[in-house]
Amino acid sequence: MLTAYLCDMQILDGKKAAQAIKDELKIDVAQLAAEGKKIPHLAAILVGSNGASETYVAAKVKACDESGFKSTLIRFENNISANKLLDKIQELNTDPDIDGILVQLPLPKHISDEEVINAIDPDKDVDGFHPVSVGRMVQNLPTFIPATPHGIMLLLKHYKIDTKGKHAVVVGRSNIVGRPMSILLSANTNPGNCTVTICHSHTHNLKEICLQADIIVAALGKPEFVTADMVKEGAVVIDVGITRIEDTAKKNGFKLKGDVAFDVVSAKCSWITPVPGGVGPMTIAALLKNTYHSCRMKN
Ligand code: GUN
Repeated sequence: MLTAYLCDMQILDGKKAAQAIKDELKIDVAQLAAEGKKIPHLAAILVGSNGASETYVAAKVKACDESGFKSTLIRFENNISANKLLDKIQELNTDPDIDGILVQLPLPKHISDEEVINAIDPDKDVDGFHPVSVGRMVQNLPTFIPATPHGIMLLLKHYKIDTKGKHAVVVGRSNIVGRPMSILLSANTNPGNCTVTICHSHTHNLKEICLQADIIVAALGKPEFVTADMVKEGAVVIDVGITRIEDTAKKNGFKLKGDVAFDVVSAKCSWITPVPGGVGPMTIAALLKNTYHSCRMKN
């Protein structure tokens, strides 16, 4: 049976919104350079050769170039020792030219994410993963906000989505997306001021909870998990998922799928992010914003 829905769906175009942010940053950085001031410099560390991580880090470095930032990509073999990686972080911590340090996750199993994140100077923690940054975010104090949730907040702001008093359901509780997202959406800010429910693999009645949501943030990493029967008509749907699915028809051998079944859900919601072109570009724009602010604090 075909169901006719009343709402006209609109796309939350992350590519466009991110371009606007990057264009603004480019002007700001050119201004710094014209004044003889220091320009932002991001150091990105990539361990091993995970295909997705390679793509993400390359996109971050490219975005730095486009906005006039300096960037340094440091690559290590998969079998690098934790101590060697920690030594490099220490070197970057004390290098006055470096404003931001990011270590692309996931790391190989023999290296503790926690130990590596804790080694980054909180003043250069542009990923916002250090406990000091997370603590400040929870208290709504100025800090580096993790790039993906920060990018989503910028996207909601760009499209003037009204979030005040709305019920936001975040599916996924990772330190990188779900947990910080739930904190930001519930903060007394605009966007923000939501009533937030955070769901995870042990949640009972997930479908019923999602059906109550005015805003759904799907960040669980399961392709097309959120289906039309889980979404209230007129909801705002943010899809953080980006899973590679084998596709021999594609030149690179894969296609990208979000956590939301876009074709059926988009017919029902008011706003939705596409995959690709939604949250991904906003994550990079937010990382640049964090790096710019780190640089400005030093200038
Ligand atoms: N892996 C997946 N997302 C991220 C991110 O935002 N930052 C880093 N460093 N690694 C990631």
